[in-house]
Amino acid sequence: MTARLIDGNALAAQVRGELAARAEALKAQGVVPCLAVILVGEDPASAVYVRNKVAACEKAGVRSIKDTYAADVNPRTVFDRIAELNADPSVHGILVQLPLPKHFDADAILEAIAPEKDVDGFHAENVGALMQGNPRFIPCTPYGVMKMLESANVPLKGAEAVIVGRSNIVGKPMAMLLLQAGCTVTVCHSQTKDLAFHTQRADILVAAVGRPRMITGDMVKPGAAVIDVGINRLQSGPDAGKLCGDVDFESCKEVAGVITPVPGGVGPMTITMLLTNTLESAERAAEEMS
Ligand code: GUN
Repeated sequence: MTARLIDGNALAAQVRGELAARAEALKAQGVVPCLAVILVGEDPASAVYVRNKVAACEKAGVRSIKDTYAADVNPRTVFDRIAELNADPSVHGILVQLPLPKHFDADAILEAIAPEKDVDGFHAENVGALMQGNPRFIPCTPYGVMKMLESANVPLKGAEAVIVGRSNIVGKPMAMLLLQAGCTVTVCHSQTKDLAFHTQRADILVAAVGRPRMITGDMVKPGAAVIDVGINRLQSGPDAGKLCGDVDFESCKEVAGVITPVPGGVGPMTITMLLTNTLESAERAAEEMS
């Protein structure tokens, strides 16, 4: 192994320690930071993510509200609940776990969340603010990736950054953040003609596609920072049932300069940045009160 490992668990523990102190300071002012999480349907991965988010809140001194609805719920019920949470001054963050069942208009749901409580940063107003370089809430996964790059002292100014995946949750906001940090950014996707041509030029390579081990060592520039956002459960082969990322860790770790593992890489940082956004929101609310 030549690459240095960026330990997401260790970095998350450090940041969460700082957050717990901020939560205590808020409580001393009479403000209990609070995140509301809405889960619709029975998607097992979403259920695990929501459980982890609620548990992380508890550990950090953040109150959480968890509302779960059956997959066939009338969307009006969820809209009404969001309106209630928007109007409740004791709630500082609202998150609707994605994906939503097919009969939901996910964009309309995200737009219904008050932008000043949209701790995911998915509301159009917050997406626009991020694009203008003046973010209110930075989407949690790309925010966590930026913290990891910073912690590993990866140079960003003038670096070639290649992102594989163009989702609204990761790829697109990741591109904006790296661009603002001074990288030259390329976003690759399923229609990209020669993926390896692009990835081999990357000083910073972010994989966020949801395809197990698709980035192999031969696609990586020697010394690159390789960030693996994927969380996939292998369906077959000798490692069936195991979690793995979008990066083939075994081959890439021999070529990269720094690399994140799965599990224990970006995942813990995503939840940490959700807590960060919730605390920021609560701090803004406390400031308005004083
Ligand atoms: N589903 C997968 N990632 C996310 C996320 O960061 N936020 C929400 N709300 N849903 C998700």
